[in-house]
Amino acid sequence: MNILAFESSCDETSAAVVCYDGEGFIIKSNIIASQVETHKLYGGVVPEIASRAHVEAISPITYEALEKSGLLLSDIDLVAVTSNPGLIGALLVGVNFAKALAVSNSIPLVAVDHIKGHIASSFLSEDAPKPPFIALVVSGGHTAIYKMESYTDIKLIGTTRDDAIGESFDKIGRMIGIEYPAGRGFDELSAKGFERAVGLSSGYFKRYKASDAHKDASMQLPSPALKDGSLDFSFSGLKTAAINLLHRFEQRGEKIDRELFAARYTYEAVEAVAMKIGSALLSNEDCDLVVAGGVAANSHLRARLSEVAAKYGRKIFIPPVSLCGDNAAMIAASGYYEYQKGNIARSSLNASALDSVV
Ligand code: KG4
Ligand code: ZN
Repeated sequence: MNILAFESSCDETSAAVVCYDGEGFIIKSNIIASQVETHKLYGGVVPEIASRAHVEAISPITYEALEKSGLLLSDIDLVAVTSNPGLIGALLVGVNFAKALAVSNSIPLVAVDHIKGHIASSFLSEDAPKPPFIALVVSGGHTAIYKMESYTDIKLIGTTRDDAIGESFDKIGRMIGIEYPAGRGFDELSAKGFERAVGLSSGYFKRYKASDAHKDASMQLPSPALKDGSLDFSFSGLKTAAINLLHRFEQRGEKIDRELFAARYTYEAVEAVAMKIGSALLSNEDCDLVVAGGVAANSHLRARLSEVAAKYGRKIFIPPVSLCGDNAAMIAASGYYEYQKGNIARSSLNASALDSVV
């Protein structure tokens, strides 16, 4: 089965051709037109500009995706498109384009939830996870833990009560001079910090005890893991504490060690995720772990969650960095399973800004 898929929920327009050969997925093409350079000027995504850029990009990248795949539109058996959640104007571009293409060529259409799409990026690998499994989605808009009961049935078991982890990396990264989106630059900076911290003291990143408070107290940050027995997070406290810490340095006229600061921030954010994933695995003994979303590219998160999965004797599936961010190949993989389940979209399909998994 040949699937033509579209993704336009935020600031990447993507079209992909993916084939399912009965055993697994083969990515024939996965074209991503990023708008990052445009939005960088404003320090974040400007929704109206994003919608207009999607309108300009979607036709050319569809031609490009088909051409690169070596297939014709007449070879396509299924059209899949992200319908929610995301920026409404941006989503509408993809949904209407996909609808028009599917209806005018009599190809079935499926609507894909962006979150399920991210999770499906792990299905694109040769060694793909099999449900049930626990899925962590860490992106610019989400920090959530799900249980995938099947390829299509998803249950939310933990989430952030305020900011998403990627959003917090972007915000704090910007404050220390990294351009939007700051996640990758923050990762590179913190990797250097982690390397140096090992030389500083072996316990540098161990949690502080009250008696250790004198040690490097200027760099202390609180944990964003909620200690209420839930699998939830709250990143706003960590973010505010980090902003206050940066202000204190500024007021004292001191220059902060950006590498160590980025490492400490990353450490606290990732430890909270690791702790909750540990609890989720503990109470779901039959489940392996899937990690997905833009922040799944983070080197420290990848390494730390691999340790957690190993500790509980589970397999971990994390897509290659190239498939962690928004792309249409992952939408094709999720769309395939929606189609198998009979979830064909009507021509009245509409986009929605909201999460459907709550
Ligand atoms: O999944 P995604 O491409 O878009 C959303 O659906 O939100 O995720 C984008 C997020 C941004 O916040 C970006 O800064 C972050 O992923 N990101 C990273 C890294 N690469 C991208 N965060 C931490 N470390 C990275 N290496
Ligand atoms: Zn995304």
